[in-house]
Amino acid sequence: MIRVGILGAGIGAEHLQGYRALPDLFEVVVICDLDEARAKDIAGGTPTTADAGVVFENPQIDLIDVCLPPHLHVPMSLRALEAGKSVICEKPIATSLKDVSVLEKAEAQSGGQIYPVFQYRFGRAMAQLQALGDAGLLGAPQMASLETHWARRADYYTVPWRGTWAGEKGGAVVGHAIHAHDLLSTLFGKVAQVSAVLDTRINLIETEDCAALTFKMRNGALAASSVTLGGADDKTRIKLIYEKLTATSGSKPYAPMDQDWAFQARDPENQAAIDAVVAAVLETGAGFTGYLAEVAAAMNCASNKAVRLADGRASIELITAIYASARSGGAPVTCPVGTDHPLYGGWQPLED
Ligand SMILES: NC(=O)c1ccc[n+]([C@@H]2O[C@H](COP(=O)([O-])OP(=O)(O)OC[C@H]3O[C@@H](n4cnc5c(N)ncnc54)[C@H](O)[C@@H]3O)[C@@H](O)[C@H]2O)c1
Repeated sequence: MIRVGILGAGIGAEHLQGYRALPDLFEVVVICDLDEARAKDIAGGTPTTADAGVVFENPQIDLIDVCLPPHLHVPMSLRALEAGKSVICEKPIATSLKDVSVLEKAEAQSGGQIYPVFQYRFGRAMAQLQALGDAGLLGAPQMASLETHWARRADYYTVPWRGTWAGEKGGAVVGHAIHAHDLLSTLFGKVAQVSAVLDTRINLIETEDCAALTFKMRNGALAASSVTLGGADDKTRIKLIYEKLTATSGSKPYAPMDQDWAFQARDPENQAAIDAVVAAVLETGAGFTGYLAEVAAAMNCASNKAVRLADGRASIELITAIYASARSGGAPVTCPVGTDHPLYGGWQPLED
């Protein structure tokens, strides 16, 4: 049984549902929010506090779940490690590669682990893609097309930290498309090169809300990612062209792996084998439930499928490369981004 303290009662409410779906693995001991009424609203009998110090000092707690605005992710994760806890931290895990290195060092020197949140990875379609790969039915990744077309209007930006460099530390590339790009890295491997054009076209905010991105992967595959917060509604679409099949998601926005995908063979003779592998994959934990189950397995040394800090680093490296490219008019930027890169310490515009 892993005892958890949740910091932040916004998306923290969805994390709480994930823990409650796994009562043999987790017990949420306290929910903390500066706005304690918000914590009480979601608590359903779990104790609440407005003082994060109470959570860090509680010797019963094994795992602190940081569901706070982005500028607090690194300091709160470090505080949790110093208190001898493991950490789940919402995206983005950090707002510079330099800070990721600080987290890596702190994790190595502590008894705890950091688990960045990428819950989109979990669901039956991911297991189906893995099974198809294991059966030799995918072949090499060739081309991916990603759409993060979501609707964010003025009301979304009434939360003061959103849409600002100081609070959100970036726009749609940091806060929204980060999930689709994590899926790309998970399924197609490491990114070798990025070109990016960013713009703010939808809302009156400081940060970008549209992006047109191209990637070259280390294995030679290409990918294109189209990002906007000006959609009529929220849709995420992913199309993966492998050597032997094309995999196409539905348009469910926040759980792309928890829905039926189409898997179409390039050689029709392979279709029956593909259909058989896909049908044999059972329902699996999706979203936060699937994500948290793997965190518990990792903490209990039962499996290593949890999202780890190296995955968080890859996401921050990609964001760094995207901003570097966008600021040089879309010129290609190669990964990995070195410690001598001008944006290694962060992508905040200088005037901020
Ligand atoms: N994984 C996902 O799909 C997903 C979805 C939404 C948000 N997020 C991420 O989760 C994080 C939080 O987003 P949100 O939408 O829940 O934000 P939010 O502003 O709605 O909620 C954050 C809460 O943290 C509280 N808070 C701030 N500072 C605090 C402190 N020092 N101590 C205790 N409580 C404090 C605030 O009072 C607020 O209630 C962000 O990083 C966001 O990017 C992730």
